Amino acid sequence: MTRLYHVRTYGCQMNLHDSEKVENLLHHAGWRAAAGPEDADLLLINTCSIREKAEHRLGSDLGALRDWRSAAPGRVLGVGGCVAQQEGDALLRRFPHLDFVFGTHNVRRVPELAEAAGSGIRHAVTEESRSLERFDQPERHPEFPARTPGRAWLTVMEGCDLFCSFCIVPRTRGREISRPAAAILAEARRLEASGVRELTLLGQTVNAYGRHATRRGPDPETGSVPFAWLLRQLDALPGVARLRYLSPHPMFFDEELVRAHAEVESLQPHVHLPLQSGSDRVLARMRRRYDVARYLGLVERLRAARPDIALTTDLIVGFPGETRADFQETLRAVREVAFADSYSFKYSARPGTAAAAFDERVPPEEAQDRLEELQALQRALTLGYHRGRVGETAEVLVEGPSRRAEATLEEPLPQLQGRDAYHRVVNFRAPAALTPGSLVRLALVEATPHSLLGELPDVQPGPLLADENPRPTGPV
Ligand code: 5AD
Ligand code: SF4
Repeated sequence: MTRLYHVRTYGCQMNLHDSEKVENLLHHAGWRAAAGPEDADLLLINTCSIREKAEHRLGSDLGALRDWRSAAPGRVLGVGGCVAQQEGDALLRRFPHLDFVFGTHNVRRVPELAEAAGSGIRHAVTEESRSLERFDQPERHPEFPARTPGRAWLTVMEGCDLFCSFCIVPRTRGREISRPAAAILAEARRLEASGVRELTLLGQTVNAYGRHATRRGPDPETGSVPFAWLLRQLDALPGVARLRYLSPHPMFFDEELVRAHAEVESLQPHVHLPLQSGSDRVLARMRRRYDVARYLGLVERLRAARPDIALTTDLIVGFPGETRADFQETLRAVREVAFADSYSFKYSARPGTAAAAFDERVPPEEAQDRLEELQALQRALTLGYHRGRVGETAEVLVEGPSRRAEATLEEPLPQLQGRDAYHRVVNFRAPAALTPGSLVRLALVEATPHSLLGELPDVQPGPLLADENPRPTGPV
C-alpha cells in the first residue's frame, strides 16, 4: 500500500522551499501526498523561530498531535526547520510521541529518518554541514506537480554571517555558503525545460552571493561568481521571462547589481529591501551596517537605474531602546521612500541573540500602538501606489483562482489571481481555460488596499497572451 505524507510549513520562502525539497525526496522514496493529516502515515512540521509566536506554535501543534500519532499504528511524526536546528534532541525528550528531528542542513536525510522511525528508531539529526552536496536535489518527481506552475524558487546561497543583533537566523541556518554557479545554471535550465517562466533566486542574504569565492576571479565550475554575473547568465535563458531575488541586504548592492536593474531584461522591477528602522541610533544597535542616508542613497541609485522600480521592505518596531522620536524617524523614512508595501513586526527577543540582553524594553502596548500607526501609514501608501497604477497595462503571471474564484450570475467568469512585474497581486475575471503559469496582459481598472483589479481587453485568451513562444510541454 502506498504510504502517505503531509507537511505543515511555517515561516519564510526558504522554509517553504525546503518543504518542497522534502516532499520531492519523499516522492522519490515512494511516498505520496495525503489529502490531509487524517490520511497521512507521516506528518512533518517545518518550523520557524524568527519570532516567539512562530516558535510557540510548535508546542501547541505537537501537543495536539499526540492523539493523531496514537490513532493508527505505524504513524510517524517528524519536526524540521529552525526550531529543530536549535532544539535538536531536546525536542525528542520533551515530546515522547515525536519520532525524529531534522535540522536545516539535513533535509536530504528525511526519507531515511522516516524509514528508521518505522522500525522504532528515534533520532535527531542537526549537524551543520559545509558541504555543497546539501544543495543537490533530484529532479522534480513526475507525480509531484508544482503548486504554482510557471514559477519556481532556486536556492543560490544559504546561511548568514551578519549577526544582526535581533536575528536568530545565523544560529538556525548556519554560516554563509554559496552554491557553484554551474550547479545553479544547470538547475535553472532544468526548470526552464519544465515550463518555468519566473525564477526567484533565494538566499538569506541573496546578494552576498559569491562574495567569499570571487577574490581569485569568477569560476562557475568550482566556486562562485558575482551575483550580477549570475543574473546575466540566467537572463540568457530564453524561456525564463522573469527573474527575482529574495532577500537582499542593502550593504551588498554594488554598482554591477544596480546596473543590472537597468540592463537585464528579465530582472523584474521590484526589490524587497529590508530597512528595519528609520533611526540611525536604532540601526546601529541592530548592527545593520548602514545608516538611513546610505539606505536612501541606494534607493536613489536603484530608481536612477530603473525609475519605475517598486520597493517593499521589512520593519521592526519596539526594538529595545527605540524611543518615540526614533519611531517617528521610521515613519519619516517610510514616507520618504513611499514603499509599495511593507511587512512590519513587533520586536521579539530571541534567546541567544545580542539584543536579547539589551535593556530599555519598549512596553508591549506601546509597541502595539507603533505597529498600528506604521501599518496605517503603509495602507495609505500602498493604496496610493495602486491608484497610481490604474490605467496602465500590466503583464501578469497567472497563479490560479483568486479568493473570490466563483463565477456568479452577474459575473459569469471565474476570478483568477496573478502577480504583475512589480509583484503586486492582480485579480481579474477570465475564462477558466487561461492556465496557471501563462503570462497575460491586463488593463488595470481599479485599486484596492491589497490588490489591483485587472481586465482582459477581450475575453478571447489566444491573442492576448503575452507569451509569444509557447511553453515547452511538461508538467505545468
Ligand atoms: N523580532 C521581530 N522581527 C524580526 N525579524 C527578524 N528577527 C526579528 C525579531 N527578533 C523580522 C525582520 C526580518 C524579517 C524576516 O523578520 O524584519 O527582515
Ligand atoms: Fe538575520 Fe540580519 Fe542575517 Fe537578515 S542579514 S538573516 S536580519 S542576521
